[in-house]
Parts: sequence; C-alpha cells; structure tokens
Amino acid sequence: MVDEKEIPCALVVMGVSGSGKSTIAEKLAERLGWRYEDGDRFHPAGNVAKMSAGQPLTDEDRWPWLQAIADEIDRVCEVGERAVIACSALRHAYRDVLVHGRRDVRIVFLCGTPALIADRLAGRKGHFMPAGLLDSQFKTLEPPEKSEHPVTVSIDASVETIVEDIMRQLKLGRPDRGATRGKYA
Ligand SMILES: Nc1ncnc2c1ncn2[C@@H]1O[C@H](COP(=O)(O)OP(=O)(O)OP(=O)(O)O)[C@@H](O)[C@H]1O
Ligand SMILES: [Mg+2]
Repeated sequence: MVDEKEIPCALVVMGVSGSGKSTIAEKLAERLGWRYEDGDRFHPAGNVAKMSAGQPLTDEDRWPWLQAIADEIDRVCEVGERAVIACSALRHAYRDVLVHGRRDVRIVFLCGTPALIADRLAGRKGHFMPAGLLDSQFKTLEPPEKSEHPVTVSIDASVETIVEDIMRQLKLGRPDRGATRGKYA
C-alpha cells in the first residue's frame, strides 16, 4: 500500500521525438486512471504557426509554452487531480520550468538508442519527419541528472513492459481489478 501523500500528482514523460512519449504516457495514464495530456497542446498560436511553416522554435518561443504546462501542472495538483504529461523537455532548463522545485512532479525519461528510435519513426504512420531532426534532438538532449530524481526506462521493450517498469519504479501498484479508477492496491 502506497501512502497517498507519496504519490506524485504529475508525471512528465520526456525524451526525443519518436522515443514513445505519447504512446507510453497515454497507456500509463490509462493504467493509473489519471488524465493524459500531450504537452504540444499548450503551444501558443505563434509557435503552432512557426512549426507548421517548418521553422525551428527558439528558446524564447519555448518559455511561454513550458510555463503554460507548468501552470496546468499547478492547477492539476491544486485541485487534487493527477496527470501524465508527454513533453519532450530535452534540456535541464526546460524541465526546471515544468518541475519548479515541486517534489510531487516526477520526470520519466524514455531512454533509447538513435538506431532504435529511427526505426520506430520510420514505421510511424501519418507523421512527416524531416531529415536531421532526430540528430538535432539527440544533440539537444540533456539526460536528466540524479538531482532531478528521474525514473529512467529503456524503451527497448514492449509498451506494456515499459509501463510496468515505470509503475514499479514509482511504487505505483496495480489498481485492484474491482477498485475505483485511480486507487492503488
Ligand atoms: N515500446 C514500443 N514498442 C514498439 N513501438 C513503439 C513503442 N513505443 C512507441 N512505439 C511506436 O513508435 C512510434 C513513435 O512513438 P510516439 O509517437 O509515441 O513517440 P513520441 O515520443 O510521442 O514522438 P513525438 O515527439 O514526435 O511526438 C509510434 O509509431 C509508436 O507506435
Ligand atoms: Mg508524441
């Protein structure tokens, strides 16, 4: 039995493009009975226009976006909800905005090799991936440090195994079969 107070109110599932953030965060949220959010939803209109035009975002563009996600995290925690948020959060400074010293917000890092992720991206339907994007994502990536207390999982496994691994590391047991969604065994 996990003490309710020790359960985080938000999990930020991070990693490079194609590491499986949306897939894993959605499945994890479903398993926990928490809300799933895709961080991309919080981009201001100006960023969406830039991205649609194929222009790279600058850090100046990113701060308001990250702050909007941080505000949502605060709101969720304040009202006693729980959420799993998929967000690339590649740099330490980005994660600092999202977590802003909260101990009840945990980082989940999806870790995989460029070769495996390139393979997954090649197999992804309905997405266009500009050449060189994965390279630049790995160049930007600052893997979370110990001080960030991350949960790090290898993505070289099935979605189910990865989700189990995250739940085990966070000591979030299987919800009871007959229990209310979001309650823990
Ligand atoms: N563990 C896994 N095993 C096999 N395929 C996977 C696994 N995780 C994700 N995938 C597949 O890999 C592709 C990339 O996953 P997904 O779209 O979730 O990545 P993402 O990190 O959200 O990417 P983006 O940053 O571009 O939004 C998808 O086609 C997904 O179905
Ligand atoms: Mg995604």
